[in-house]
Amino acid sequence: MNRFTTLGEFIISRQADFPYAKGELSSLLSAIRLAAKVVNREVNRAGLSHDILGSTFQQNIQGEVQQKLDVYANEQFIIALQNRGEVCGLASEENEDIIAFDTPLARSGKYVIMIDPLDGSSNIDVNVSIGTIFSVYRRKTDIGSLATLEDFLQPGVEQVAAGYIIYGSSTMLVYTTGHGVHGFTLEPSIGTFFLSHPNIKIPEDGTIYSVNEGNFNSFEEGIKMYIQHCRSNENASGKPYSARYIGSLVADFHRNLLKGGIYMYPGTIKDPNGKLRLLYECNPLAFIAEQAGGLASTGKQRVMEIQPTSLHQRVPYLVGSKNMVNKVVEFINS
Ligand code: AHG
Ligand code: MN
Ligand code: MN
Repeated sequence: MNRFTTLGEFIISRQADFPYAKGELSSLLSAIRLAAKVVNREVNRAGLSHDILGSTFQQNIQGEVQQKLDVYANEQFIIALQNRGEVCGLASEENEDIIAFDTPLARSGKYVIMIDPLDGSSNIDVNVSIGTIFSVYRRKTDIGSLATLEDFLQPGVEQVAAGYIIYGSSTMLVYTTGHGVHGFTLEPSIGTFFLSHPNIKIPEDGTIYSVNEGNFNSFEEGIKMYIQHCRSNENASGKPYSARYIGSLVADFHRNLLKGGIYMYPGTIKDPNGKLRLLYECNPLAFIAEQAGGLASTGKQRVMEIQPTSLHQRVPYLVGSKNMVNKVVEFINS
């Protein structure tokens, strides 16, 4: 009898994809998988629990109001990761500074993690898909020492693994270690992720564009021209593309990854670098996009080649199907 492969079985069968000490990725991903299941449980019952739904009335470092689930998810991922011994430190959207795990076990960890514990948090209260995004690097500092900022300010090309969880109509975990992109769906009744989307490839062309068009008037000329191109009959499909914008990056990205499309969060007059954070939003999804055959660009530069200068740095972001990203870059630079 055949059945789907579990995430655990898959990782073990693909140990060669992670050419470091055996078992490290498996341990690290199993910590992420555990926290994801706990967060998933709370997301699913959020509407019934005042402890979980709504705002904390506090602001995070970005000046954004934190939702209770932002804080809860952040705690769950920190707890799960600091107890494994693979990870020596973590940087999160919800914490101003890096967190260096200060136990002998954690100090011996070879990896650092960057995480957006809950992405799309404005959608929590209205029952719309949200997600978690993570990115894994090898540390720069010596094993045994405390992690420092230097371990985190690495360009995206140095990522050894990246992934996201989408809490959608079903819950999925999608990851890459640089050997293709693989998607797993949670079977909620037994709490196991099964391989449902092996070797995901993004179509080279798509017919979906995702952008907050409310900002249209303050986009630069090249972006405006590309949006007009999407709305016209002059594009690759010969008829207007469909506009789809959920407002949860993970969910918009996931749809475009499977169906073909482009997601854009360009700079505006007020925010020339846009809104999305390089280290724990843009780079991990750029790694996945590229591994699936797509592209991620700021309009001027490949996202994964940017040398970060600060933890919560923002960059303009264009990600998705190869031909669509190339087209918008052409408009920006024409
Ligand atoms: P987060 O909830 O982690 O702060 O991220 C929100 C991001 C992203 O998920 C989404 O695509 C974008 O903000 C939406 O921003 P706008 O409401 O400005 O379109
Ligand atoms: Mn986010
Ligand atoms: Mn977030």
